[in-house]
Amino acid sequence: MNERDWDKVADTFEKEIFNVPANDTKGIILDWVERLATPDAVATDLGCGVGRTLPMLADRYAHVYAVDVSSQCLDVAAKANPLRSNIEYVHADLSKDRNSYPATDVVLCINTLLNAALEVREPLIDRTCRSVKKGGHLLLVVPSLNSTLLTAYRHLQWNLRDGMDARDAQKAAALNGKGLEHGIVHIDGVPTKHYLKEELEALFTARGFTVLDIDKIEYPWTTEFDAPPRWMKAPYPWDWFVAAQRVR
Ligand SMILES: C[S@@+](CC[C@H](N)C(=O)[O-])C[C@H]1O[C@@H](n2cnc3c(N)ncnc32)[C@H](O)[C@@H]1O
Repeated sequence: MNERDWDKVADTFEKEIFNVPANDTKGIILDWVERLATPDAVATDLGCGVGRTLPMLADRYAHVYAVDVSSQCLDVAAKANPLRSNIEYVHADLSKDRNSYPATDVVLCINTLLNAALEVREPLIDRTCRSVKKGGHLLLVVPSLNSTLLTAYRHLQWNLRDGMDARDAQKAAALNGKGLEHGIVHIDGVPTKHYLKEELEALFTARGFTVLDIDKIEYPWTTEFDAPPRWMKAPYPWDWFVAAQRVR
């Protein structure tokens, strides 16, 4: 999705875009945000969207840069936080612009590194990393490729339980395979990058980070299927949460 696509969803964001922080029932994101907060620390919300995590940051950090490629989303975010004067809104395309905000102590980046095109995603990842001060921390959430494959397995299992023969059951549960070997999964027709845990470790280590924690933010099966059967329980689908410190 590009700038115009994100602008278009600004008004219907809550309905269309899955709310990660609201579904982080174990409070993994909040826990790390609080752990790293000091009275004069500065944070960035990279790809802040309509600002769901801005109150969490602004209430705990001295200053917050709210960065997004969509000026419409930034407008909605600013209107939702009129009294939080320590938030600075920055319109920037991280895949192109030189950063128009400084590197900060903490960078929170929830489901922003999704672009399927490598030539867009690589600069996006590089700039995300450079947005963290040396010694600072990156708190990242990205879709999990492992979770997508688990969902496909659950779909197959469900089909077989419903009496489909093996061939039809596999066909009906198949993923659109184009780009799957590179973690590209089509969500509502939009090619979306998904990550392996090991890939995240390698990716951030190569960019001068020490990975401190990789955890699952788990969701109920209703996030994947309209009416999942009662037997469909743990393991649940998840996004990856990464906490990493920039060491060089
Ligand atoms: C899935 S939404 C997540 C928004 C928010 N982090 C949340 O959890 O609600 C992805 C956000 O990343 C922003 N984004 C995507 N590509 C970007 C880019 N190249 N530069 C800056 N922001 C970008 C979009 O405008 C959108 O607001």
